[in-house]
Amino acid sequence: MSRYAHIIGWGHAVPDQVLTNDDLAQRVDTSDEWIRTRTGIRERRIAAPGEYTSTLATRAATEALRMAGVHPREVDLIVVATNTPDYIFPATAALVQDALGAGRAGAFDLQAACTGFVYALTIAADMIKAGGIDTALVIGAETLSRIVDWEDRNTCVLFGDAAGAFVLQAADEPGGVLTSVLHADGSGAELLMLPTCGTRNPVSHKALDQRMQYMKMNGREVFRFATRVMNSATREVVEKAGLTLDDIAWIAPHQANRRIIEAAAKALKRPMDDFLLNLDRYGNTSTASIPLAIYEAAQAGRIQPGQYGVLVAFGAGLIWGATLVQWTGPRPVAKPPRVRWHRRLAQVGSWLRRARRHLEGRLVRGG
Ligand code: ACO
Repeated sequence: MSRYAHIIGWGHAVPDQVLTNDDLAQRVDTSDEWIRTRTGIRERRIAAPGEYTSTLATRAATEALRMAGVHPREVDLIVVATNTPDYIFPATAALVQDALGAGRAGAFDLQAACTGFVYALTIAADMIKAGGIDTALVIGAETLSRIVDWEDRNTCVLFGDAAGAFVLQAADEPGGVLTSVLHADGSGAELLMLPTCGTRNPVSHKALDQRMQYMKMNGREVFRFATRVMNSATREVVEKAGLTLDDIAWIAPHQANRRIIEAAAKALKRPMDDFLLNLDRYGNTSTASIPLAIYEAAQAGRIQPGQYGVLVAFGAGLIWGATLVQWTGPRPVAKPPRVRWHRRLAQVGSWLRRARRHLEGRLVRGG
């Protein structure tokens, strides 16, 4: 019997502090008019001191688990997609695992730039479908404000901080995360990068003097690439699922620039209303942008159980991809019993073996 990976809970976290375009115009040579007309962004959220990628991720995950009615100890795997981990290592996912008290969960970070959430969702869903795990937390979380050069008007107006999380769970009932297409072209690596902090250009006084600890971007080239792949990846994933564009009720695009999404809408011959949008209020939150847009749409009743939707993203790497989902909704899905019973029996077996070893030890010691 086939197994499916359903999205049964979703959560979000955004910092309280709002930074408007007018606020930015006081820091760099820009204007509300320029930012709004070139990008569609009006404001973004900025993490407070003491707020990190892991704390935003934990808040989003807590809300998603609560909605799903899943206890942290039921989670088998936590994947955090991020470009702004708390540290190079340990993984931010491990910090989230500890903060949640998800004692049974494996945890790792995934770096695929702004396409990270699409990649993470694909991997977690495929592990569920293969029977390796039952329940996963997939999180996109960023504190981009910490790697943005606040003196560079080309980039600092674009980004914001946020997190979004999905709970995935196995079920026999068809639906959930159905299929994905994942792509990369590393020949475009220099179009968008953070040059230092890695091992090629370790942190040094020289690197800091050149402001290499901040994001660098060739906006025009990234724009050109993005408009091309948003269209192609959406078409490709729909075809791979055996559907047509007419079957798709909504598209959740990576929220980088409204003009990129308008170009995709035109190429796909879909009205802008079909696209879930919130970049006007949050800017580009990278891996968090898609789950955050879906979160708001789901909470507003804009997306409904049974509908097909496409999540499509692009970013540094260059990396891009799309995932096709059939929305489930926060309702209990019948969990496939086989794996769960198998695991329970294995657990009881391990307790019995431990108890026997303990008793044998006491007998040998004469206790
Ligand atoms: N305010 C005022 N003027 C500005 C600003 C600003 N904030 N930023 C740039 N300009 C100026 C430029 O200096 C340039 O001036 P010049 O002609 O005198 O040199 C002029 O505006 C036009 O610059 P362009 O780069 O041609 O502007 P464009 O219309 O392409 O818009 C933008 C720039 C918004 C960055 C656009 O190219 C874009 O959105 N690119 C995609 C970026 C993106 O999606 N990045 C995220 C990828 S996801 C990830 O992995 C993180």
